[in-house]
Amino acid sequence: MAREVLQKNDPVFSDRTVPDAVRAHQHHEFGLPFVPVSPLWRSLRKVCNLHIFSSQKLDANQHLRRRKVEQLLATVRDSGRLGEAVDIGQAAFSAIVNLLSNSIFSVDLADSNAQSSLEFKKTVWSIMEEAGKPNLADYFPLLRKIDPQGIRRRMTVHFGKLLELFDRMYDQRLQLRKGKGFATTNDVLDTLIDITEGKTEELNRTQTIHLLKVLFVAGTDTISSTLEWAMAELLHSPEVLLKAKEELEKAIGKAKWVEESHVDRLPYLRAIIKETFRMHPAVPLLIPRKAGPNAEICGFTVPEGAQVLVNVWAIGRDPSVWEMPNSFMPERFLNSAIDVKGRDFELIPFGGGRRICPGLPLAIRMLHLMLGSLINCFDWKLEDGVTPENMNMEEKFGITLQKAKPLRAIPIPV
Ligand code: HEM
Repeated sequence: MAREVLQKNDPVFSDRTVPDAVRAHQHHEFGLPFVPVSPLWRSLRKVCNLHIFSSQKLDANQHLRRRKVEQLLATVRDSGRLGEAVDIGQAAFSAIVNLLSNSIFSVDLADSNAQSSLEFKKTVWSIMEEAGKPNLADYFPLLRKIDPQGIRRRMTVHFGKLLELFDRMYDQRLQLRKGKGFATTNDVLDTLIDITEGKTEELNRTQTIHLLKVLFVAGTDTISSTLEWAMAELLHSPEVLLKAKEELEKAIGKAKWVEESHVDRLPYLRAIIKETFRMHPAVPLLIPRKAGPNAEICGFTVPEGAQVLVNVWAIGRDPSVWEMPNSFMPERFLNSAIDVKGRDFELIPFGGGRRICPGLPLAIRMLHLMLGSLINCFDWKLEDGVTPENMNMEEKFGITLQKAKPLRAIPIPV
């Protein structure tokens, strides 16, 4: 059924329904996930594919990811020295915010322990949470004006904070570029300003600011909660963790951090990431699609305008597709060609078709680097009283799927 929607009938289902929540700041008119397939959508995707996530761009800024992973390991090492537990999701979140802000603005936006970083995470999670709440205004459009649950009102505040921040950074760069002797840094912001101010009319400033906001919102919580789930599953299944550590030691050496060039030699690590995506897809219902005219799936007519949700979470746990679906068994991917790139419909955490997640190549690189390094450089102990058997593995549902109880574990440097 997912294949019918995302591949076979892709053009008919490639627009999205617009939740009232994302009408805040007219985000649905400018922001990538919600604009309909149109010249603006093509321009935004082109900028992403060509200037941000192409293999060439990602290879060229590999050093940034390495540096951010090194900083993450240093913070974790400090906690280890003090015998303190690390909040894995929070630590990963700061690393990713900094990675994105370095690739985009050439600055660090998050300090792993700073209040500003916690604030930033709270804002991003509040956006995910509000966007995931059932909203009466979506089912009874007459209620939109009243916004009975206050969802759009709160979204206006959260969006406003991020838009203001990025607008300020855009302005600062414009001023800097006017200065004498300015040499372009070739970061994403410079590229976007070249496009926006270059009168190619491909993107205007408002669209660019919304794009920046989308990159941070869509890219941070998704990667950090996937990493947190992966670590939680490893601590929950010590035999899997041991096997992963053995592979790392053999392939790259004990206590070394993982480089992107190592990942080809780490099939078990890759299988762990796929298994995490199967059980804990970060966006469990994808981002809703909308049926166009004459939509038909498997012989059923779908009314024009209907909202179509693809339940990736259920596909990943379907017993007719997966053996022992509720067990974390990376081995199932060892001799399998199944990948997450939108062609194998039993595993589609990034969606599929023309609206597949453009951040996939960055997410995959980051997850391997961070997870591999965290388990190769440290042994991990659960906090007092928590054992692999009694760990809380419950989920918290927003538009993304988080761990209800944040994972905290004490690192012991190897
Ligand atoms: C574990 C990491 C991630 C997961 C699981 C994920 C998942 C998804 C999913 C399921 C969709 C909807 C696809 C569809 O409708 O078929 C999506 C769309 C999108 N994602 Fe991601 N994503 C991740 C990371 C990222 C990153 C790192 C970025 C950017 C920095 C990003 C940016 C976007 C954007 C802009 C869209 C909207 C695309 C469009 O509507 O054309 N994502 N993502």
